[in-house]
Amino acid sequence: MTQPPARLLLRNCCLLHPTEPPQQVDIAIDGDRIGAIAPHLDEPAEVELNVRGQIVSPPFVESHIHLDSALTVGEPRWNESGTLFEGIDIWRERKQTLTLADVKERAIATLKQQAMQGVLFVRTHADVSEQTLTALQGLLEVRDAVRDWITVQVVAFPQDGVYGSPKNEELLEEALRLGADAVGGIPHYELTREDGVRSVHRIFELAAQYDRLIDIHCDEIDDDQARFLEVMVACAIRSGMGSRVAASHTTAFHSYNNAYAFKLMGFLQRTDINFIANPLINITLQGRSDTYPKRRGVTRVKELWQQGQNVSLGHDCVQDPWYGLGTGNMLDVASMAIHVCQMTGSAEMDACYNMVTWNGAKTLQVEDRYGIEVGKPANLVVLDADSRYDALRRRATVRHVISQGRLIAQTEPPRSQWMVADESTPALNMPSILMQP
Ligand code: FE2
Repeated sequence: MTQPPARLLLRNCCLLHPTEPPQQVDIAIDGDRIGAIAPHLDEPAEVELNVRGQIVSPPFVESHIHLDSALTVGEPRWNESGTLFEGIDIWRERKQTLTLADVKERAIATLKQQAMQGVLFVRTHADVSEQTLTALQGLLEVRDAVRDWITVQVVAFPQDGVYGSPKNEELLEEALRLGADAVGGIPHYELTREDGVRSVHRIFELAAQYDRLIDIHCDEIDDDQARFLEVMVACAIRSGMGSRVAASHTTAFHSYNNAYAFKLMGFLQRTDINFIANPLINITLQGRSDTYPKRRGVTRVKELWQQGQNVSLGHDCVQDPWYGLGTGNMLDVASMAIHVCQMTGSAEMDACYNMVTWNGAKTLQVEDRYGIEVGKPANLVVLDADSRYDALRRRATVRHVISQGRLIAQTEPPRSQWMVADESTPALNMPSILMQP
């Protein structure tokens, strides 16, 4: 990996802030750190980049993805029903053929795709339900191999349940011994309600014992009786571990009756548990057993945000048995949240942008390394946009990606040219009209 320049200067930046209005500033990067931020910096730099008033943002954060299954769509077959459970069946077949090289190659290809679109922090789940722990080993090796340009966290995720088969509990603990960053679970997919409750308690025990984070696939089902979030909340309140805990998906929250949902919202105020919604996939997976009306099946993002809970967003899947689409672009994820969660107000759209940036950093507990502040690692992106709204509306191109002081990717925005002569554009001496899409 090449060394960063001694000083890189970004001129005329529209620097985003999570809660305050943007600032017009120059930003100096000294080595791998932010060296200075001021309305105008005079000192010369080895390399200068005139940003021309475009927005400069901390990098995007992918809070929830499964890199072990990424880019396997159609292998060995397509998910024709589109359901979560057919996806789990297909993956059970596909994972029999996993090799370390297979996992690593697809994971790194996906990470590069994401990094080129400004994602520099990623939390991935690794399926630890299979005997050889190949997915986990592969993703731990990837985490170490890419650390110079992207930060990856690995969650030990028992896809078939902690108690779904006799060896799964031991495999989960072995994954922590091998170095997984977080303990995962899937209580709504355990064989019984009692097993589901027991699995949540066991996950909290393991997290305390091995000093790891927690990220549980919780209530990812349309069943309004799937109520493991309350178990997570109770464990978080009693253990005081809330900020280190994430509840992923919680799609059943969408279907709870309001009397129960409001009671639960009250309990949530007693803990700082993080929520992760995955709107691209859950708008397609959920509601499959409904006729009409069809439920949206995405958790109550707007209400959680209004109450001050930390909500971040993820893809969950990119081209795998559960979701055959996806490009790794977090602006797609935020845009889908805006639509599905009806967050079209100006402040609401800004909040959705924050859910794929600052809020994700809070969920991943990387705030000490995140944010454009003097002294912090120089991780930032420059977008072809003049505001969050503009970036979201047009899925703006991420023009420059700077990781630890180094420019690691650049992308030219697409340009269209109007070619038809008409009254407003005479054929003779017709000027080139460059339009942004
Ligand atoms: Fe997931």
